[in-house]
Amino acid sequence: MQTLRLTTSEQDLSVAADIIRRGGLVAFPTETVYGLGGNALDSDASHKIYSAKGRPSDNPLIIHVAHPDDIEKYAVTDDRARLLSAIFMPGPLTLVLKKRDIVPYATTGGLDSVAVRCPSHPTARRLIELTGLPIAAPSANTSGKPSPTSARHVLEDMDGLIDAVIADGDCEIGLESSIVSLLEDKPVLLRPGAVTLEQLKDIFGVDGVSADESLLRKISQDAPVLAPGMKYRHYAPKAPVTVVKGDYEKVGEYLLARQSEGYGILCFDGDKKLLTGRNALSMGKAEDASSQAKLLFTCLRSFDALNVDRIYSRAPSPDGIGLAVLNRLLKASGFDVLEV
Ligand code: TXA
Ligand code: MG
Repeated sequence: MQTLRLTTSEQDLSVAADIIRRGGLVAFPTETVYGLGGNALDSDASHKIYSAKGRPSDNPLIIHVAHPDDIEKYAVTDDRARLLSAIFMPGPLTLVLKKRDIVPYATTGGLDSVAVRCPSHPTARRLIELTGLPIAAPSANTSGKPSPTSARHVLEDMDGLIDAVIADGDCEIGLESSIVSLLEDKPVLLRPGAVTLEQLKDIFGVDGVSADESLLRKISQDAPVLAPGMKYRHYAPKAPVTVVKGDYEKVGEYLLARQSEGYGILCFDGDKKLLTGRNALSMGKAEDASSQAKLLFTCLRSFDALNVDRIYSRAPSPDGIGLAVLNRLLKASGFDVLEV
């Protein structure tokens, strides 16, 4: 199959919408990462998405809507959902709610719940509006690889496997949406993102929201997981990753020694010594987690081209969106953490 390259012109977006209405797949930008979109109400389209990504079909998809009010059509909402939607939508928040019958089990991986989000990216919203449908979209990467934050990343993984990609620059946030489950009395943060745990605690109280225990530590393969996607190895470059924790100076020295052995190094802008050497990439400013969020996946993909045998990384501090950066990095490492 030839993958069409589309722009954000109204004419191209109509072409994209037509493809989706006819059951095809189009990758499109959102403010978080690029998504691989298909008609969420069409089981065949969902099967095509799983197959293009090489993704296990028990890992449910997120449904994207053009307006927050549309969530009600596909999921059963409550006061908490309406509150979160009023504060954060459109934006980088996904809610897990009880699904309505119209949503096929192929889209929800067989679950009675559904993940729904309303992206803020104007291209994404216009595309959804033009299709007149909810769009099921996982991140537009091959399963297991870092999520794409540019059309180039999408094409690295999906060229020839999908009908089209809409190119629209780099994603502003760079990490996937925060996922909050509202299936139980207490909201649970299943995946951290730009909507932070701190913000949720401000709304629900410190004890009024919990963070899934798998966010920062390895859980056993047999343990029940709330977001099925979390049991798979994720965000991984070809080379294994080790996250190095400890005193800032000491970690710097440790990384310098590993660099002299030829290994890949993921560090911060301030690591001048490391960055003048070989195979070292900066994921942004140490004190600015948003800059790290924006660059992390691009860095992880860049290491593939450097052909290093192993990557050693600094650990971002887990405040604000830093929790999301650390979570993705730990998953990329398979929770291989070294204390120095
Ligand atoms: O920012 C994002 O959310 C991006 C853009 C494209 O919108 N999408 C994205 O989708 O990251 P994906 O499929 O890569 O990740 C969806 C996650 C998976 O971990 C999946 O298991 C979880 O959401 N999920 C989906 N439906 C769920 C459900 N009903 N219950 C629990 N977790 C669910
Ligand atoms: Mg994904």
